Amino acid sequence: MARVLVTRPLTEGGTDPLVEAGHEIVVPGDPPAADELAALAPQFDGIVCHLTDRMDATVLQSGRAGRLRVVANAAVGYDNIDVATATGLDVTVCNTPGVLDDTTADLAFLLILAATRLASDAERDLREGRWTGWGFGTHLARDVHGATLGLVGFGRIGQAVAQRAAGFDMDVIHTTRHDTGLSGWVQTLAELLQRSDIVSIHVPLTDSTRHLIGAAELAVMKPTAVLVNTARGPVVDEDALVDALEAGNLFAAGLDVYDGEPAVNPRLLAAPRATLLPHIGSATIATRTRMARLACQGVADVLAGRTPPNVVLPAPKP
Ligand code: DGY
Repeated sequence: MARVLVTRPLTEGGTDPLVEAGHEIVVPGDPPAADELAALAPQFDGIVCHLTDRMDATVLQSGRAGRLRVVANAAVGYDNIDVATATGLDVTVCNTPGVLDDTTADLAFLLILAATRLASDAERDLREGRWTGWGFGTHLARDVHGATLGLVGFGRIGQAVAQRAAGFDMDVIHTTRHDTGLSGWVQTLAELLQRSDIVSIHVPLTDSTRHLIGAAELAVMKPTAVLVNTARGPVVDEDALVDALEAGNLFAAGLDVYDGEPAVNPRLLAAPRATLLPHIGSATIATRTRMARLACQGVADVLAGRTPPNVVLPAPKP
């Protein structure tokens, strides 16, 4: 019987694959802080962690000095894990691809609609007693239907957003590093930003996507455009985004992710026409349970000597 650390409680039934394999599961009362994680890691054969746990070289080396063989992130993004170090130490890394695409795409579309229609501002006016009655010229926003939607990244989640956009008669374009061969591909980010009425980001956080959208990129967007980010906060330079919103060089923004979350840049909190959600892209009961099971199944597979389908490998050297 192996020992598996699950850093935060999972949804009901999430640990079934580990239970069925007969492993001992330990869920600490509070999620372990970084130094606690390094101290705990060597005592476990596997760790099911979250995007809030930094699985850095210190934690991984400490784990490997003990019995650690596998780390599974209960998330599709894995920028919190030093995959190169883990792989070098022969610690397998898993994530949860494919089970949260539709749920996250739903949330991206929610932000596309809410930000473009200024729904948060309108609701805030109502709740805070500023609504004095129906007004012909108040709360005027922009149309989603018929708009050009630019997708930065066209993986599973980006494609699921494109499917939803078809129902809104949107013209969908996308940009990726390599030609997808699909209709709507544009070669450069600049061209996509210039043409889009709404831009939605669907790339992982890597060294090359950090601040992918900064002042220069925002400057080529239409002043009537809307930016939506459900990927990772640091992909957008938040200060540059606030500058653009404050100056009226960008119509609105919808964000689910932040640089340094759970702290949120106070300038963003005060920014005009910004819809802000607390990283809930995949937060439905069914999807979180699928994610939990997939992560736990990855751990169970590795501990049984099998190679799970959801193994993450280090990025190839550029
Ligand atoms: C992920 O899985 O990477 C999301 O950000 C959280 O569900």
